[in-house]
Amino acid sequence: MNNKILDGKTLGMKIRESLKERVEQLKSKGVTPGLGVILVGENPASVIYVNSKEKACQKAGIFTITRRFPAEIDEKTIFQKIDEFNNDDRIHGILVQLPLPPHINEAKTLRKILPEKDVDGFHPMNLGKLMLGEETFVPCTPLGIVELMKYYGINPEGKNTVILGRSNIVGKPLANLLIQKREWSNATVTVCHTKTENITKHTKKADILIAAMGRAEIIKGDMVKRGVVVIDVGQNKVIDPEAKKGYRLVGDVEFSSVFPKAKAITPVPGGVGPMTIAMLLSNTVKSAESKIEKGG
Ligand code: GUN
Repeated sequence: MNNKILDGKTLGMKIRESLKERVEQLKSKGVTPGLGVILVGENPASVIYVNSKEKACQKAGIFTITRRFPAEIDEKTIFQKIDEFNNDDRIHGILVQLPLPPHINEAKTLRKILPEKDVDGFHPMNLGKLMLGEETFVPCTPLGIVELMKYYGINPEGKNTVILGRSNIVGKPLANLLIQKREWSNATVTVCHTKTENITKHTKKADILIAAMGRAEIIKGDMVKRGVVVIDVGQNKVIDPEAKKGYRLVGDVEFSSVFPKAKAITPVPGGVGPMTIAMLLSNTVKSAESKIEKGG
């Protein structure tokens, strides 16, 4: 593969392979790492994500229980299910797939997950620790991005790092991760969002550009400087009658015009997506290991 391409698919597989050994170690101590998943409704992207997360867990030897609820389900039933997972010794990680239907309070739901089982790192306690630079579960996409950059020797220290998008899942935790006073961090971070005036003014200054807005191919070649490192978090479906499925997956970055100017770039698919899944598995194994360390 071209060495400009940051290949998350291969690295993700490598990480998943190495996790298998840690799972075997745990099993030899009588513990099988377990992930409890809650999926509400039938959002097509969420269904695909949850299926691939389940499959990846099974391949790594991680036990999974997935509870699928119709979109009309009430909050109380979801909270009860989270509580069951909280109290289930076989479950080391709990994941509530987002987004939730509008009648379910997302913040309240995420607070119900025990912080020590919060492998998504979305509980306010874990997000607070992340902000303070303390050891915690780090949200999977930001963690995957940092691991991918580390693997390719891309150090954000002192670099103008521009994050497009301020979601609780990617933009906000990633900004916090990259401004920490430690190795593979120390970046100068700018976060752009829907109210940012003149986005191009910022993107043109970026040494590292991370696009996480969920808008198909919105970042074009003339918006970036030569030598930029581009991390594309977008996974947008665009209609393509020539594609087998009738659509194709594209990022937030227009690959064809940005690639020639970039020093390095993640492809879509095969960049950030597989890293997110690998990090979920890694956090689940870490949770099982730390439970053993604390005495079961
Ligand atoms: N929806 C989109 N990305 C994620 C993720 O990383 N975790 C969860 N729980 N939901 C998501």
